[in-house]
Amino acid sequence: MADWTRLIRDIPDFPKPGIVFKDISPVLADAAAFADAVEAMAAPWRAAPPQAVLGVEARGFILGAAMAQALGCGFVPVRKPGKLPGPVLAQDYALEYGSDRLEVHVDALPAHSRVVVVDDVLATGGTLAAAVALAQRQGMAVAGAAVLVELSALAGRTRWMHPLPLLAAAAW
Ligand code: PRP
Repeated sequence: MADWTRLIRDIPDFPKPGIVFKDISPVLADAAAFADAVEAMAAPWRAAPPQAVLGVEARGFILGAAMAQALGCGFVPVRKPGKLPGPVLAQDYALEYGSDRLEVHVDALPAHSRVVVVDDVLATGGTLAAAVALAQRQGMAVAGAAVLVELSALAGRTRWMHPLPLLAAAAW
């Protein structure tokens, strides 16, 4: 298997000066690398697949939908404010400067559905923690989370709620 992680590229000063953005676009553009990356994320859940993957906007949609197909389960989008058409439950969370909000449809899944939360990158961990909180407030049974890339220097794992598994396919 070729090493798909070598296709992840650093983009300096995006989206702000001083930030080095991990761009996963070249992984998605390469059929074999995309397949290997999705398989790396999906494999740990195959023994006990969830009822649905919850994918966080925006790149969590791409990876989460592909992962749901690989596991034979459903997909639920967790979106930025004002994007979902039906009644939503919302979760605010702090950013380095300011705050943001995630939303999910209140009727997305039956109560107690077992879900895995998926995003592309774990940085400070605020986004993933908010998505898990949202799912749990809605009565979903969160089995854990999966990300493609963990930026270890930003210590996002410290915001994670143990003992649920947080699985990263690659880490820097
Ligand atoms: C990025 C990334 C994660 C989040 C991780 O999303 O896709 O969702 O940041 O950061 P955190 O661990 O510090 O919370 P971004 O906010 O850039 O939104 P986008 O996916 O809509 O571009």
